[in-house]
Amino acid sequence: MQIFPRELNYLPLALAIVAGGLGAGVFILFWVYFTPPNLQVGYTPKQPVEYSHRLHAGELGLDCRYCHSQVERSHEAMVPPTQTCMGCHAVVRTESEKLAPVRESWETDESIAWIRVHQLPDHAFFNHSAHLRAGVGCASCHGRVDQMEVVGVVEPIAMQWCLECHRNPEPHIRPKSEVTNMKWEADEAWVEQRAMIADVLNPPEHCSGCHR
Ligand code: HEC
Ligand code: HEC
Ligand code: HEC
Ligand code: HEC
Ligand code: HEC
Repeated sequence: MQIFPRELNYLPLALAIVAGGLGAGVFILFWVYFTPPNLQVGYTPKQPVEYSHRLHAGELGLDCRYCHSQVERSHEAMVPPTQTCMGCHAVVRTESEKLAPVRESWETDESIAWIRVHQLPDHAFFNHSAHLRAGVGCASCHGRVDQMEVVGVVEPIAMQWCLECHRNPEPHIRPKSEVTNMKWEADEAWVEQRAMIADVLNPPEHCSGCHR
């Protein structure tokens, strides 16, 4: 005697498909809502001062290291202190309304509350100096900052993105003297040379390389 009709044999399978679909849906929702904005392409927060990289790094031609002075020595690039701005703005545009928050920070000794643009979660380790030493330029990860009025995230900062380059860094390697040069492009001679340089690089692909 059959207690359950035969069709019910398919019930577990049907349930599994529905649950699978739901699971994926829930997963995508979580992924979209909980990927922090600082890892998403296009995130461009409004800063407390209308500071322009296009003007300072582009038109005025200031080197990135003039302000991000620790980037070659430290794991962090660091945003410059108000003192760096006042080196010029104590004499340039001293009446400018746009610079009022900078002068106020200088007078009160309270740092400007710059909003962090890129930020990895604590469980992921990143080191600027190691990348620059290997000849990876700012532009490979931050894009043409010299053309940006306001800096935003231009690359999808995710594990997959890190790993893609770690598996094949060669196209991103440039002479160390050009790491901050936004306009630099590889010529034929360099394409040959960089293959040999990339050969001896060994970016980590094992978990503990980036999760320490
Ligand atoms: C005159 C000083 C100055 C120079 C020169 C400069 N920067 Fe900046 N940079 C800043 C300040 C101030 C901030 C913080 C405000 C902002 O995000 O715009 C910043 C922020 C950034 C950020 C975003 C940091 C974050 O929070 O994630 C990146 C990336 C960056 N700079 C890259 C560069 C690159 C690349 C160059 C060279 C082409 C450069 N900067 C030159 C002052 C400077
Ligand atoms: C090497 C000199 C130099 C440094 C360092 C410098 N600036 Fe400037 N800044 C200038 C010059 C030059 C101008 C353009 C003035 C003009 O248009 O006549 C300018 C313009 C500005 C303006 C626009 C002012 C206006 O009224 O339009 C802002 C805002 C500004 N800078 C912010 C900053 C901040 C914030 C820093 C520090 C992170 C900084 N600057 C560092 C030279 C500098
Ligand atoms: C290999 C990719 C890569 C390169 C090359 C790179 N950056 Fe970054 N940058 C990042 C990542 C990832 C973060 C976020 C780091 C974090 O949250 O710990 C970041 C953060 C920053 C910040 C925010 C403050 C900080 O130190 O975390 C600044 C400023 C910055 N970068 C400037 C630069 C400059 C200037 C250069 C070139 C001299 C450069 N970066 C080269 C990937 C890169
Ligand atoms: C555009 C290429 C590129 C990207 C993107 C990139 N890396 Fe790297 N990474 C390298 C190269 C090249 C090295 C240097 C390898 C060497 O010196 O042998 C390196 C080295 C490292 C190291 C070892 C340095 C040390 O101090 O031990 C860590 C950790 C690392 N990367 C983490 C990351 C993380 C995390 C990201 C993503 C947020 C990332 N990298 C994105 C190219 C890249
Ligand atoms: C080249 C650097 C790098 C390596 C190697 C790496 N990770 Fe990650 N991982 C990251 C970064 C950066 C993030 C944070 C980015 C994000 O949240 O999307 C991350 C995030 C994660 C997360 C959080 C979930 C997520 O996707 O955000 C897990 C879990 C993880 N990694 C596991 C691993 C395991 C397991 C390995 C070894 C098989 C590994 N990682 C190797 C850089 C790396």
